[in-house]
Parts: sequence; structure tokens; C-alpha cells
Amino acid sequence: MIVKLIKTKDGSYTAFSEDTGEHYHTISGAIEEAFEKHVNALGIENGMHILDFCFGLGYNSIAACKGHTNLQIIGLENDMKILEAMKDIEIPDVLKTEFAPFRNIVESLDVTDSNNNRIQILLGDALQTIDELPDGIFDRVFFDPFSPKKQPEMWSEEIFQKIHNKMKIGAKLSTYSCAKQIRKNMISAGFKVIDGPVVGRRSPATIAMKE
Ligand SMILES: C[S@@+](CC[C@H](N)C(=O)[O-])C[C@H]1O[C@@H](n2cnc3c(N)ncnc32)[C@H](O)[C@@H]1O
Repeated sequence: MIVKLIKTKDGSYTAFSEDTGEHYHTISGAIEEAFEKHVNALGIENGMHILDFCFGLGYNSIAACKGHTNLQIIGLENDMKILEAMKDIEIPDVLKTEFAPFRNIVESLDVTDSNNNRIQILLGDALQTIDELPDGIFDRVFFDPFSPKKQPEMWSEEIFQKIHNKMKIGAKLSTYSCAKQIRKNMISAGFKVIDGPVVGRRSPATIAMKE
């Protein structure tokens, strides 16, 4: 199956999922969303360990690499076709240089750029592969599955509990959903929850913190 790509309003492309009927990003701007809802909302420092839960086209991870060094990023993804699509996708100037080293990540699933930022992909169902990761290692988590309506199993208290266990004290997670039940699940898993930025729609994103 060919991945269907759609140009968003900031000039970057997103993909469309036939299975869920959802775009991978907001159509107001895919790369803008990566920077505003995830990278800038959490703040990234050199050397951080980052979990990219639902890697897709890798925009969140690669946006984090911009201006940073020695990042250790683990991306969870179950679809080789979306990684394959990274090879030829057109990338706007804002992320072109940073994206280039990772274009062929589908070949090795493990790439380090010239700033020693390393991205490793764990291929498979994130609900399972999360269990392969050590506890207490992540500083930041980009949590980016399809919507709670389409993928309720990804947004359960149980999965937030697993992610919470993988994070360091003081670590932060970003996600686009602000749904009441989702925040409730996060709080039950031990997170403190605050509003994230408003980007591409009226409601805020969510930042969850492990205290
Ligand atoms: C909303 S998109 C993420 C967009 C991504 N962060 C980006 O910047 O392109 C959701 C992604 O989760 C992946 N996915 C869906 N179910 C999954 C699962 N059970 N395990 C791992 N990845 C999954 C999809 O293939 C898709 O790439």
C-alpha cells in the first residue's frame, strides 16, 4: 500500500491513515505541531533520553534534534510503510538539514547524526515493545498515537502506568489530546497534568509530569 501524503498549511506533509480515517498531524501544520506541541512545550536539553511513542514520520524526534546534541531517542512504531515514506518525503527548510541523516532509517532502524543524536526504532506493537525498555530512563516522552476514539487501547491507565515507570522523576510527556477521560487515566497512573499549548485548534494540548 502506498502512503497517502497531504500538504499541511506550514508547507510540510502529513500522512493519511485509511484504517483510522485520521491524519497523522494537524492539517494546520505538521512540523509546526512537532515543534510547538511537543519539542518547545517540553523543552529539550543536550544528552536527554527521549521516548517517541508512535514515531510515524519521525517529525517529533527529528525536531528535537534541531540545535541539540547527544540525544538518545527510542521510537516505537509498527508500520514499516510509514518509515519507508520518510525516504522521499519533501521537508521544508526549517527541518531539512536535520531530517536528511534519518531519511533511510527504515534500512537499519538505528541512525546517529553528525551531532551524535541517535534514533533507534523498536518495530512492533508499542503496547508490547514498551515492556522491552528499562525503567526510569526517559527525560521526555512524545505521546502521539491516533485518537482515543480510534485507538482507545493506547490511552488506557495501564499504558500510562507503563510509560510512567519508564520515566525519570521530573520527566515530562506531551500529547495533543486534552480529553477528560485521558487526563483522568494519566492522573490515576501517577502523573500531574497541566494544559499544553493551543496549536491548530481551540483546545489545549496536555503536558503530564512525573513528580
Ligand atoms: C498520529 S501518527 C504519529 C505521527 C508521528 N508522531 C509523526 O510525527 O509522524 C500514529 C503512528 O502510530 C503508529 N501506530 C499505530 N498503532 C501502533 C501500535 N500499536 N504500535 C506502534 N505504532 C503504532 C502508526 O503507524 C502511526 O505511524
